[in-house]
Amino acid sequence: MPVITFANTKGGAGKTTAVMLLATELERMGYRVTILDADPQYWINRWSETTGDRTTIKVIPYVTMASIERLITEYKAVSDFILVDLPGARSPLLAKTIGYSDHVLIPIQGCAMDAQGGAHVIELLQYLEDKASIRIPHSVVLTRVNSMVTTRALQVVKQLLAERRVHVLDTPIIERAAFRDIFSSGGTLYTMDPASVTNLYKAQENARAFAEEILSYAAMRLALTHVGAKAGMTPQVRTAA
Ligand SMILES: Nc1ncnc2c1ncn2[C@@H]1O[C@H](COP(=O)(O)OP(=O)(O)OP(=O)(O)O)[C@@H](O)[C@H]1O
Ligand SMILES: [Mg+2]
Repeated sequence: MPVITFANTKGGAGKTTAVMLLATELERMGYRVTILDADPQYWINRWSETTGDRTTIKVIPYVTMASIERLITEYKAVSDFILVDLPGARSPLLAKTIGYSDHVLIPIQGCAMDAQGGAHVIELLQYLEDKASIRIPHSVVLTRVNSMVTTRALQVVKQLLAERRVHVLDTPIIERAAFRDIFSSGGTLYTMDPASVTNLYKAQENARAFAEEILSYAAMRLALTHVGAKAGMTPQVRTAA
């Protein structure tokens, strides 16, 4: 029952979108997912209301400092994954939630401001490791990447992360209309109409690759052993940089 937290103290980095994509892919693979929605805009809760009741994705809105610990304990018992969508600002919830996480994902767009918000999260993780010997595996996922162009800004961000020896997922989340539209249409990438959404199949492929890569990490694999491999997944272990 791994807890995966999405964090970047810079607003608009793509946290909520990444949570949504991962949750719906995990659901497709047969896992039960609980999303703890601590984003004050409650996009995922709104998506859940538009989409209607689902048995395999449970969305808990209005998560606060006072409730997070209880909610994680409570939903760990009935979920294969807990995903936490944090606010895009500095908040005490960040440090508290990180402490309960098995993995922290840091979405970063190829721009300096986003990278700075991500660096704040990475510094906090580093602090926990140095001062309290608590090592929480973490990875950066590059978001809103242009499918056609490799921008200079993106290269700079990648280089910066490599210098700091921060692990970056091989799969970036590409800028796709489908990833925006899912919030207004409700449902998933698989209930959308391919005739009315540009490059829907490419969006599906990207979301699938993103979810599969996350599942391939050793920490996930260990935490999943008692859940049992579902959907014929064969996780590969990759070492963080
Ligand atoms: N890969 C993508 N393709 C297209 N649009 C995207 C993508 N990722 C994010 N967006 C759009 O960018 C905006 C910000 O994304 P999102 O809400 O996921 O970021 P966030 O980090 O959760 O923001 P906040 O910090 O405000 O909670 C939204 O309008 C979203 O639809
Ligand atoms: Mg958000």
